[in-house]
Amino acid sequence: YLNYCVPRTRKEIFETLVKGLRRLEYRGYDSAGIAVDSDKKTTTEDNSKIVLIKKKGKVKALDEELYTFVVIHNGIITNYKELKKYLNSKGYEFESETDTEVIPKLIKYVYDNREREDLSFSTLVERVIQQLEGAFALVFKSHYFPGEAVATRRGSPLLIGVRSKYELSAEHIPIQYNSGLFKEGVQDKNSHNRPDKPDNSTAVNSAGDGKAVEYYFASDASAIIEHTNKVIYLEDDDIAAVVGGKLSLHRLNSLAGENPVRAIQTLQMELQEIMKGNFEAFMQKEIFEQPESVFNTMRGRICFHTNKVILGGLKDHLKEIKRCRRLIVIGCGTSFHAAVATRQILEELTELPVMVELASDFLDRNTPVFRDDVCFYISQSGETADTLMALRYCKDRGALTVGVTNTVGSSISRDTDCGVHINAGPEIGVASTKAYTSQFVALIMFGLMMSEDRISLQPRRLEIINGLRILPDMIKKVLTLDNKIKSIADELYQQKSLLVMGRGFNYATCLEGALKIKEITYMHSEGILAGELKHGPLALIDKHMPVIMIIMKDACYTKCQNALQQVTARSGRPIILCCQDDQEMSKNAYKTIELPHTVDCLQGILSVIPLQLLSFHLAVLRGYDVDCPRNLAKSVTVE
Ligand code: F6R
Repeated sequence: YLNYCVPRTRKEIFETLVKGLRRLEYRGYDSAGIAVDSDKKTTTEDNSKIVLIKKKGKVKALDEELYTFVVIHNGIITNYKELKKYLNSKGYEFESETDTEVIPKLIKYVYDNREREDLSFSTLVERVIQQLEGAFALVFKSHYFPGEAVATRRGSPLLIGVRSKYELSAEHIPIQYNSGLFKEGVQDKNSHNRPDKPDNSTAVNSAGDGKAVEYYFASDASAIIEHTNKVIYLEDDDIAAVVGGKLSLHRLNSLAGENPVRAIQTLQMELQEIMKGNFEAFMQKEIFEQPESVFNTMRGRICFHTNKVILGGLKDHLKEIKRCRRLIVIGCGTSFHAAVATRQILEELTELPVMVELASDFLDRNTPVFRDDVCFYISQSGETADTLMALRYCKDRGALTVGVTNTVGSSISRDTDCGVHINAGPEIGVASTKAYTSQFVALIMFGLMMSEDRISLQPRRLEIINGLRILPDMIKKVLTLDNKIKSIADELYQQKSLLVMGRGFNYATCLEGALKIKEITYMHSEGILAGELKHGPLALIDKHMPVIMIIMKDACYTKCQNALQQVTARSGRPIILCCQDDQEMSKNAYKTIELPHTVDCLQGILSVIPLQLLSFHLAVLRGYDVDCPRNLAKSVTVE
């Protein structure tokens, strides 16, 4: 059966061929088959890339073979090679090199070998996931189970959106609600927000009259917010099954009657928050949202009359935190930089030793952790695998765990003992921007809360609280520099490298600025501690190397001036981020970007924004997709 079709999806091609074969069935139906080119690139020497699918019996059997089990997978299956080898040995053929393909093949294998057992769809799924290693969120559909869907997760996030034409209430929600097995919760933006957890999380829910309800499976709420704001977050090894329009949940390997309690959360997210509006890219929109997003981080938590700071999700643990041996602040990438940015002020306000740790390195070192440590996990997504593993590591050693996330219901916000939701709103651009400034503010608020009863620290607290009060306006002023920064980008965009140098409170800005530049412009960029200049990086400086220096009027000002001299003495042409009206800087700079002056420990919130804007403009000028940098993902759920 030949197919000279115009470009179509494989599914369309299969459908066309099977439909044609059905029409030919009157001529005999002892077997049917199709052969199509593989969707992989083929060479003339390699004609093995034709996919042949044949089946004895009627065309229906072929149809079933083609669409037997459909699987949606987010994550990575680490033992797929072993599984593939095994399935190959049983005669199962593979069309791709992907890890995902082993899952539909494996479930088909379990189904084909079920002997006389009458297995439900969810039991089949359970048997499959017991063989899988790695991280996954999975949704299964099958020809054999029409009208059913089964979903599960381990390590990758998965939620179920629940939409009803009725207000979801005890009477109307078609999940058995009156048994108290589902709990309903509204996101409390001042608390750390995790679904209420009952003791050992096992109890049943089962469906009632499901007619008026739609269920959506998604990795994150932004995919479904258009349709519903009611969601259930699944835990690892939960099995959710929709059968005949009714949802039920149970745990992997649970006995009858042991089923989980999962809260139905009401999301506060608005559709508009995940739309790009008039901006060219989500990243650009998110940079410009920062006056509002940092305001939302503070909203209802700082009283500017009494100078009190209350983080609802932490207040019950404050005594315990104050008694701890040290604070360990853990994260990856930008979230780690937020920890670096606030370390000094946390040390000052809490009077505790503060360690900042990259999650992967922390684990590699088997870092000693004790019961009287308090460990913070900073994560926009709340799902980063390395950070999550560091969390489990510290929990096992008895430390108190604190989450600082932007994603309600995320694994980190659920698995920590307490925490802060940063309320920056959904961040869609892969390059993190507004989450960084909100993490920064949230960590400073924690320091302020810890120091409330320290008389000697009150003047400092007051200075910072006043700085926070006007921070959104200051950010607005920085954003007006956009055109100037664009013109600097026009000059720089063809460069290969860009160094960003600073120290003290602005060192984190250098790291974060350089990360933004490298991840979306693919230019080489390095954040350099100015104090380290003469220990190596100075060798890079000449009149060709673009250098950005951050020199603010703080305790490091004089030292930064020395670094500037080192650079200019080697014919470097620094672009200096400095305080407004700093004549000294204007004299020595190739160009200046002048920022409003604020309290030293908050200055990094303002100084990072020009670098966010610069990286955005550079990426646009270089012709790259700002929101989807190559090789990167928004949520890194694998090690
Ligand atoms: C960089 C960036 C990443 C993330 C990192 C951690 O722009 O977005 O470096 O910061 O992958 O992600 P979260 O914060 O979700 O744990």
